Amino acid sequence: MKGLILSGGKGTRLYPLTYTRAKQLIPVANKPVLFRVIEMIRDAGIDEIGIVIGDTGPEIREAVGNGDRWGVKISYIPQDAPLGLAHAVKISRDFLGDDRFVMFLGDNVIEGGISPLIEQFATSEWNGQIVLKEVPDPQHFGVAELDGDGRIKQLIEKPEDPPSNLALVGIYMFDSNVFEAVDAIKPSWRGELEITDAIQWLVAHDEYRVYPYVHKGWWIDTGKPTDMLDANAFVLEELTPRIEGTVDAESLVDHRVTVEAGAEIVNSIVRGPSIIGKHTRIVNSFVGPFTSIYHDVTVHDSELERCIVLEHSQIVNVSSRLQDCIIGRYASIEQNGRKPKALRMNLGDYSKLWLP
Ligand code: DAU
Repeated sequence: MKGLILSGGKGTRLYPLTYTRAKQLIPVANKPVLFRVIEMIRDAGIDEIGIVIGDTGPEIREAVGNGDRWGVKISYIPQDAPLGLAHAVKISRDFLGDDRFVMFLGDNVIEGGISPLIEQFATSEWNGQIVLKEVPDPQHFGVAELDGDGRIKQLIEKPEDPPSNLALVGIYMFDSNVFEAVDAIKPSWRGELEITDAIQWLVAHDEYRVYPYVHKGWWIDTGKPTDMLDANAFVLEELTPRIEGTVDAESLVDHRVTVEAGAEIVNSIVRGPSIIGKHTRIVNSFVGPFTSIYHDVTVHDSELERCIVLEHSQIVNVSSRLQDCIIGRYASIEQNGRKPKALRMNLGDYSKLWLP
């Protein structure tokens, strides 16, 4: 079986972070979402993985490389424009050949592994398998309606009036019959070749069998900043904490905190679940639960809670607690006592600032 990861697209809902970085490379609990996806596929016993890339391809190639780090072989499949998930399957045909495959969206984070599911599909006769999850807002996803026996009745992409609360999770398993389906469908109202329509095509043809699996754990499609914070909180709870950096005698770091190599905690309180990245310094500060601070960050005389801070940023002397914030790379937030007592800022395009 092969793996196919979709890592093209524009990530506009995550602006300004995604102006300068592929959304799949934004870290959750200090690990890019895409790396988690690669590990999940590898852990299911698959060692040949294709990654569909778009405009952010060079950055993804640089971050992921040839896959040696994970013991897998990575191939890249350039997509000229984000013309849809089924389009991505279409252009991956040479890579996939006649093999069965699992397709993972590179921005989905899911609880635990789904290795048993993939392993089961690898040896089955089924033509496809989809993963579903009950959600409160199904209109934002592909939606499945099941019949009384739990079989798929119909699938619709982002319906205004959803027939159920079962969303399609971004993990799909197919055999090579999916190519007939992606060739048969037409672009949707949003101009994309939808994988949901391709699966519906298979469901509507009696000779093909597609099975649903309803996932019980958490699942997040990291489309928006609030989704990133939610995913961060969930993944932090799954981490096995370790202290590889230094914590001085004046600091209090609880048992659910990870301190990565070279990080320093000085005269500070860090409450878990949280992670402090390599060579980051936390001095005279409070870092509250559900916070991930990436590498080479400085936090001085400040307080943070439920935040994601990316690499090389500086947070110094900030008297208000920062809460539910995502702070990009090389950002600087600093309070000084100079007059006039006014807010001054250089905010990037599409940035958001909420003042109390
Ligand atoms: O996350 C689950 C949802 O993913 C499903 O419920 C929907 O049925 C499915 O259509 C999809 O919806 P989204 O609107 O969230 O998909 P998005 O455009 O965010 O793309 C998902 C990933 O695929 C993302 O990592 C970018 C990548 N992608 C997307 C397109 C449209 C590509 O690589 N190529 C593409 O052409």
